[in-house]
Amino acid sequence: MAKVVVTGRIPEAALDKLRAEHEVDAWDGEQSISRAGLLAKVSGADALVTLLTERVDAELLDAAGEQLKVVSNVAVGYDNIVVADCSARGVRATNTPGVLTEATADIAFGLILMATRRLGEGERLIRSGTPWKWGMFFLLGSSLQGKTLGVVGMGGIGQATARRAKAFGMEVVYQSRSEIDPAIAAELGARRVELDELLAISDVVSLHCPYGPNTHHLIGAEQLAAMKPEAYLVNTARGPIVDEAALAQALRDGVIAGAGLDVFEKEPALHPDLLELENVALVPHLGSSTVETRTAMAVLACENTLAVLRGEDPATPVN
Ligand code: DGY
Repeated sequence: MAKVVVTGRIPEAALDKLRAEHEVDAWDGEQSISRAGLLAKVSGADALVTLLTERVDAELLDAAGEQLKVVSNVAVGYDNIVVADCSARGVRATNTPGVLTEATADIAFGLILMATRRLGEGERLIRSGTPWKWGMFFLLGSSLQGKTLGVVGMGGIGQATARRAKAFGMEVVYQSRSEIDPAIAAELGARRVELDELLAISDVVSLHCPYGPNTHHLIGAEQLAAMKPEAYLVNTARGPIVDEAALAQALRDGVIAGAGLDVFEKEPALHPDLLELENVALVPHLGSSTVETRTAMAVLACENTLAVLRGEDPATPVN
């Protein structure tokens, strides 16, 4: 029996899979485990099942010990893992692509609707008890039909968001490291463009690229200024892809019309100016937050763990 440390709360269905084969030590606190607590807990572990709130680096891997074989992140994004540190120690690292694609695209599109149709503003207005009645010019938003969605990062979630946009009558352009499958591009009527062109022609820009050194502040003051003044920015990927201070300034100055954010640069903190602005919809990293999706993510992570402990290849490795 191997020792598997689970660093945060995950669904029982996934824990049961681990317990059927191994000794499991799972953190079950409501709050994230402290760093000191985590460093102590991982000692002697053969496998770690981690959440995106835990940084997996040389310090943590060394605290686990040389017997560690696998780190299975319960997230598709793995910017919390220093993959090179894992590889240097012969530790497999895995993520959970695929199973959260539709749920995350739903939230991206929800934010597009919240921002363009001013749903958050409307809800705040009613809840505040402010008197209102129907009026020709009351809380006017912007239509999506015939407009252009620019998808930055056309992996599975970008494509799923584009599919929703097509159903809403939008044109789709995308920026991506490589061309997507021509059949999918044809189905979506999606055209690949450079980021500059995408920013200039899109009515909604939706971010779906991974976070890393190449995408840190990919969207800053210069890129926001390159967008149309009536355009919207939506981020369901990772907070630091956007320079949050520059975004708050652009929203305040009317450089762009609005934004929808599910992720934040210094999560869970957010730039205080964003809280003062009406033209930004803010939700707390809910992209994958359905019962079905979180269960599927945790099960996939645990299956990856079990595969490595059996000496097999995991289904979704990142190294
Ligand atoms: C992920 O899997 O990377 C998401 O951000 C989790 O919601």
